Amino acid sequence: MILVTGGCGFIGSSFLLQWLSEVGEPVVNLDLLTYAGNPANLASLQGDPRYHFVQGDIADSTLVAGLLARHQPRAVVHFAAESHVDRSISAPLAFAQTNVLGTLKLLDAAFAYWKSLDRESAARFRFLNVSTDEVFGSLQADAPAFTECHRYEPNSPYSASKAASDHFVRAYFHTYGLPTLTTNCSNNYGPRQFPEKLIPLVIHNALQCKPLPVYGDGMQVRDWLHVDDHCRALRAILERGRPGETYNIGGRSERSNLSVVHAICEALDALRPRAGGRPYAALVTHVKDRPGHDRRYAIDDSKIAGELGWQPQVMFEEGIDQTVRWYLAHQDWVSSVTSGAYRQWVEKQYSGESTVPAEA
Ligand code: NAD
Ligand code: DAU
Repeated sequence: MILVTGGCGFIGSSFLLQWLSEVGEPVVNLDLLTYAGNPANLASLQGDPRYHFVQGDIADSTLVAGLLARHQPRAVVHFAAESHVDRSISAPLAFAQTNVLGTLKLLDAAFAYWKSLDRESAARFRFLNVSTDEVFGSLQADAPAFTECHRYEPNSPYSASKAASDHFVRAYFHTYGLPTLTTNCSNNYGPRQFPEKLIPLVIHNALQCKPLPVYGDGMQVRDWLHVDDHCRALRAILERGRPGETYNIGGRSERSNLSVVHAICEALDALRPRAGGRPYAALVTHVKDRPGHDRRYAIDDSKIAGELGWQPQVMFEEGIDQTVRWYLAHQDWVSSVTSGAYRQWVEKQYSGESTVPAEA
C-alpha cells in the first residue's frame, strides 16, 4: 500500500481516483482538511475497503510515525502543501510552516521508518515529492524551457517554500540515502480545482456575470498540464524513476493568461450563452498585477519522455472544454466550496478593483 498526503486537494484527489481505478493498490490518505481540502472530492470512495482516510497534519511526527508503522507503505506520495501564490504574498508564514517544516518532519518520519525496513522493502521504498516549476523562476519570452538542470530562482514566498522543501528532499537522498524522487510540474487544470486559481475562478465569475480579473497585461505565459496527465506521469516516476533524480512534467501547452481566459469565454458562449447574447469576454477586466509576477514558465519534458516514455495525452483545447463542462455539471460542488471563508478571500484579494462596465 501507499501513503498519500494532501489527497483531498485538487491534484491529490485526482491521483487517488486514478490510482484506485487503474492500479487498485490500497491507500492511506493523510490530509489536514485546510480550506483547500475537500472530502467531497473523494465521496465516490466512501466504503471502499482499499481507501483509508486520516485527518491530520504532516507536521505531527507522532501521528505520521504511527501511520507508517501500522500500514507499512511501500511509498509516500507527498502532495500536501499551501499551494496558492497570492495567499503566500498575503501570509507567507503558513507556507514556511507547512511546505518547509511540514515536509521536513514528514521526511524525517519517513527516514526513521525506512531504516526499520528489511533490505528488500527498503530497496523498494520511495518518497515522491510533488513540487513545482515555479522554483526555477521566470523565463524570457524566447528563452529555452526549464530542464531539470535549470538553476533554482524562486520569486514568490510560495515558490521559495517549495524550493526549500526540494532542497531538504535532495539532502535526505544525498546524506542518508533515503530513496527520494522529486517532480517539478507546470500549472495543472481540470476538475475539482479550488476556485481561487485562474481557470476555476474565471469560470465561476463568468457564470455570475462578475469581472474576470486578469493581472496586468495578461501576457504572462504558463504551460497548462491536464491533471490526469500529471497523475499518469507521477505513477510512471513512482514505478520507474531513478532514486535521487528530479523529473520535469509539462503539458506542451504554453498559453498566455489572456488566451486562456478567452478560451474559457468561448467554451461558455457555446455551452451556456449569456442572457442577452453578450459574449463572456466582455467581462474581462485588467486589474493590478501580482507583485513579483513571473512572466513565463515552460517545461522541457525530454527527460521523462526519453527515460520513462511518458507524454501528455490531453491537449489544451480538449482539456479546457472538458473542464468547463465539468464545472457546469458540478455547480453544487462549486457552491459547497465557495463558502463564507472563500467570499472573504475574494473580497480581500480583489478589493478596490474595477467593476464590470454596465454595457458588459
Ligand atoms: P491544493 O491546495 O488543492 O491541496 C492541498 C491539500 O493539502 C489540501 O487537501 C489540504 O487540506 C492539504 N494540506 C495542507 N496542509 C496540510 C498539512 N499540514 N497536513 C496535511 N494536509 C495538508 O493543492 P494542489 O493544487 O492539489 O497541489 C498539490 C501539490 O502539487 C502541492 O504540493 C503543490 O505545491 C503542487 N503543485 C501544484 C500545481 C497546480 O497547478 N495546482 C502545480 C505544480 C505543483
Ligand atoms: O506553475 C505551477 C504552479 O501553478 C503551482 O505550483 C501552484 O501551486 C499553482 O497555484 C499555479 O500557480 P500560478 O500562480 O501560476 O496559478 P494561478 O492559477 O494562481 O495563476 C495562473 C496565472 O493567472 C498567473 O500568471 C496569475 C494569473 N491570474 C491568476 C488569478 C488568480 C490572473 O491573471 N488573475 C487571477 O485572478
